[in-house]
Amino acid sequence: MKVLFVISELAPWVKTGGLGEVGGALPAALRAHGVDARVLVPAYPALLEHFPGAEEIAQPRGLGGLFPIPTLRQALSPDGTPLLLLDYPHYFHRPGNPYLGPEGRDWLDNHLRFGLLSRVAAWLGSEASTLDWRPDIVHCNDWQTGLAASYLHYLPGQRAKSLFTLHNLAFQGLFDHASLFELGLPDEAWHIDGVEYYGYLSFLKGGLQHADAINTVSPSYAREIQTEAEGMGMAGLLRHRGERLCGILNGIDTRIWNPATDHHLYRSYSAHRLDGKATNKAELQTQLGLKQRGDIPLLGVVSRLTEQKGLDLLLEAAPQALELPAQLVVLGSGTPELQQAWTALARKHRGQCAVTIGFDEALAHRIEAAADIFVMPSRFEPCGLNQLYSLRYGTPPVVRATGGLADTVIDAADATHGNGFVFVPATADALLQALHRATTAWRHPKRWRQLQKNGMERDSSWEEAARQYADLYQRL
Ligand code: ADP
Ligand code: GLC
Repeated sequence: MKVLFVISELAPWVKTGGLGEVGGALPAALRAHGVDARVLVPAYPALLEHFPGAEEIAQPRGLGGLFPIPTLRQALSPDGTPLLLLDYPHYFHRPGNPYLGPEGRDWLDNHLRFGLLSRVAAWLGSEASTLDWRPDIVHCNDWQTGLAASYLHYLPGQRAKSLFTLHNLAFQGLFDHASLFELGLPDEAWHIDGVEYYGYLSFLKGGLQHADAINTVSPSYAREIQTEAEGMGMAGLLRHRGERLCGILNGIDTRIWNPATDHHLYRSYSAHRLDGKATNKAELQTQLGLKQRGDIPLLGVVSRLTEQKGLDLLLEAAPQALELPAQLVVLGSGTPELQQAWTALARKHRGQCAVTIGFDEALAHRIEAAADIFVMPSRFEPCGLNQLYSLRYGTPPVVRATGGLADTVIDAADATHGNGFVFVPATADALLQALHRATTAWRHPKRWRQLQKNGMERDSSWEEAARQYADLYQRL
């Protein structure tokens, strides 16, 4: 089975969130499962720097629309996964975040940049390809690659089947009508059964409409998005395609997220030797200017600061949460309003609340290890990786019952299997009550140990997901 895995970010080189983590880990897990998975990703500066010898293997021509002739380069990732780097300097040699310019706004030519990625994926899966490796399946991820399924749908001749994995319904890749022509899509695609969406062209809709199969990254999210309340305007289409839609829970890269070997930590530890966790807490308190206290719990957050993640709820609950008492450490970046509000809160509660605005890989690992309780009050969560990291790091999470959070966190009310704390209404009150339950339980060492152990022993590796994806490819 040959699979072209198409994605717009790739950890550890280019990552804005969970999508990049999936790109960096799932293909290797698929290969371990006997699938010949190769990754197609834009040749961003960080990738070209890391793979300076990536040799040219093709120049896809005749792509239509306003598309240029890009260069495909080949490299081998350290885990043995072949990478196809889509090189077109004018589109991809831009610093920083793959989607946003220096002002924090989307690049104006994102439709062409990710249209090219999608179009080249379809080229590789079609008779036009000049490579001798031709995929059976083109596996697309999120809106940036959704049009690959549409191009494959409209291309003549023999072509690969397509799978569209939906990581987040909130990002829909909407562009104006003129882009239909620029992207070289046929006129017939401008239709309610095509890529047209309320007068816009939607990359996401293309993927949902034209892929031979669709999946999301947790079973609960797959159900939720078929309801009007959570379908973000796509519920009807998702229900229509319901038979082709399933949920496959993400895994985590257990080579990187392992408290026993994590080189970012002050001290390593494991389920059997948990004492190292206290050292991580004390050191992080010092690093971030928090009072050195072992007798009150430290709440941790690593997150995009957006509406999705419910950090406005935590902001509202924070003054009372600190009174429980507890300390709070937050790492994140996102909307200017939330960044300012969080910074202001930290200023007001110096020594008890520390907020770092930015993206900091090492600090993310240290927070997972140092915190006693992880907080993730998401309004919706397709899967969520941070709660999985926190489970593995012996940091029981407090989560809202939604999507992948509901599928991975078991409330402490279940004395045998509980590994965290779950609340239902998206309100500051409900969150505060759950935090109260968590900080109370933290004061009972024996009970707490059991919660930690249950989380740390959960199998969150990619193996099960890889098996399910391999089955899905086979069915296609
Ligand atoms: P999402 O992809 O919706 O943001 P996930 O929980 O799936 O949420 O994945 C988020 C990933 O991004 C995790 O690996 C997390 O550690 C990382 N991350 C998020 N914000 C930051 C940050 N400010 N600094 C470092 N890592 C971050
Ligand atoms: C998205 C989702 C997140 C998921 C990640 C990887 O960013 O918001 O819940 O874990 O994709 O699939």
